[in-house]
Amino acid sequence: MGVLDLASSRAAAATVVVLGLVLSFGVVCNGGKTSSFVRKVEKTMDMPLDSDVFKVPPGYNAPQQVHITQGDQLGKAVIVSWVTVDEPGSSSVLYWSANSKKKKAEGKITTYKFYNYTSGYIHHTTVRNLMFNTKYYYVIGIGHTERQFWFITPPEVGPDTSYTFGLIGDLGQSYDSNKTLTHYELNPQKGQAVLFVGDLSYADNYPNHDNVRWDTWGRFVERSVAYQPWIWTAGNHEIDFAPEIGETKPFKPYSHRYHVPYKASGSTSPFWYSIKRASAYIIVLSSYSAYGKYTPQYKWLEEELPKVNRSETPWLIVLMHSPWYNSYNYHYMEGETMRVMYEPWFVKYKVDVVFAGQERVSNVAYNIVNGICKPVKDQYAPVYITIGDGGNLEGLATNMTEPQPDYSAYREASFGHATLDIKNRTHAYYSWHRNQDGYAVKADSMWFFNRFYHPVDDSTTAE
Ligand SMILES: *[C@@H]1O[C@H](CO)[C@@H](O)[C@H](O)[C@H]1NC(C)=O
Ligand SMILES: *[C@@H]1O[C@H](CO)[C@@H](O)[C@H](O)[C@H]1NC(C)=O
Ligand SMILES: *[C@@H]1O[C@H](CO)[C@@H](O)[C@H](O)[C@H]1NC(C)=O
Ligand SMILES: *[C@@H]1O[C@H](CO)[C@@H](O)[C@H](O)[C@H]1NC(C)=O
Ligand SMILES: *[C@@H]1O[C@H](CO)[C@@H](O)[C@H](O)[C@H]1NC(C)=O
Repeated sequence: MGVLDLASSRAAAATVVVLGLVLSFGVVCNGGKTSSFVRKVEKTMDMPLDSDVFKVPPGYNAPQQVHITQGDQLGKAVIVSWVTVDEPGSSSVLYWSANSKKKKAEGKITTYKFYNYTSGYIHHTTVRNLMFNTKYYYVIGIGHTERQFWFITPPEVGPDTSYTFGLIGDLGQSYDSNKTLTHYELNPQKGQAVLFVGDLSYADNYPNHDNVRWDTWGRFVERSVAYQPWIWTAGNHEIDFAPEIGETKPFKPYSHRYHVPYKASGSTSPFWYSIKRASAYIIVLSSYSAYGKYTPQYKWLEEELPKVNRSETPWLIVLMHSPWYNSYNYHYMEGETMRVMYEPWFVKYKVDVVFAGQERVSNVAYNIVNGICKPVKDQYAPVYITIGDGGNLEGLATNMTEPQPDYSAYREASFGHATLDIKNRTHAYYSWHRNQDGYAVKADSMWFFNRFYHPVDDSTTAE
């Protein structure tokens, strides 16, 4: 949901807590700019069940909700997932490129129950040993109704490979969600893969977490995610913890439907993992799994960060759902305990950028060191960007902390998506696109300079 907030200075870590106290005493800080653009605040409406975007594909047992994600650490494998409803059918994926023979990969079927809902047959098939930078066609539904799609594999992992990521979060299935996805698809600088920062279907907003809304969401986003991989992060709307109706296993629908290559990075859980893609090393964390000292996530991250070889992947990107910095009142300081645990590592290992989600906030903030109003600049601290503005039902956040803190350079309330265009080992271009604008209009943009190769001050490059 929607707001953008861009930092004014690359400052180093410390206490937003202290900042909060200072603010409550009315000290005036001169932070950045709050955009005068305010989207008309109205109740966002979910698209009804009979909407065109939710249509079931024709044919007996036709594969639906088709989606792909990276299937290994390097980008030579793809996980293809889909649902069949009438009968299990086949989990085979038939695939080929222009200059290769047709091959077949076999997968597995899973199902789950949630309260009185029973899922369709959920297929997950990993296609391996693909060539880099190659267009592949694939067909699923063999034996019954066949459907054909395609994807392009990423270039080989290497330090100067350019690559464009789309950034979407908190999407939901409202009319605004559809506008966000349409804008992303029509953006001339559209990403080659999406970094999705959590909160997919918002099925949990419906009575008994109506899991039919997981199916409608899967059909809605198929038009993008069947053709380019979306890299998944779990958000709070994926928890689906509902003891009142006997559902006590967190993440049940999400973990059955969305598989990720977590084992390839030595992780023991699908909620935290890493991949390499082109010149980027992407670490996905779970804001809603244990992250304290001695927990599996903590131990994994502790061993993971030293593995990043910046000669191979100059760009170190972290995805998580709950932002560590935001200056909107809603969700303010929700990410604070995780920040306290992991921020020193992020500075030490020179993380370039942290993308987070969280409805009603979109925020870019730098690491603060003195905790009051004047951050101390730290060239090695990451930049923090919140993209929680896909268009979910919960409406738009316009209530921001006042005065605007120094760590926040720009903020705005509206729906949209972003892109991160990595040019080479030193330069990447970030831009944010609001739904109300034309397809090529950037509401906000800035150059990022790599923290390892080019750790100069990029705080004045926001346009
Ligand atoms: C599940 O239960 C709800 C209310 O308790 C009811 O409205 C709905 O029709 C039921 N769904 C199924 C598939 O039985
Ligand atoms: C969703 O967006 C697509 C593409 O712009 C459009 O064809 C479709 O009619 C929209 N559906 C709804 C329910 O808004
Ligand atoms: C880091 O990556 C570079 C480039 O791929 C490679 O030459 C070097 O051996 C790697 N270093 C380690 C410690 O693996
Ligand atoms: C904005 O948020 C603050 C802090 O949560 C709250 O006290 C205030 O009432 C809110 N203002 C509006 C207009 O919602
Ligand atoms: C990296 O990309 C930036 C932006 O396009 C460009 O200005 C710079 O010259 C490039 N660096 C190299 C070494 O090509």
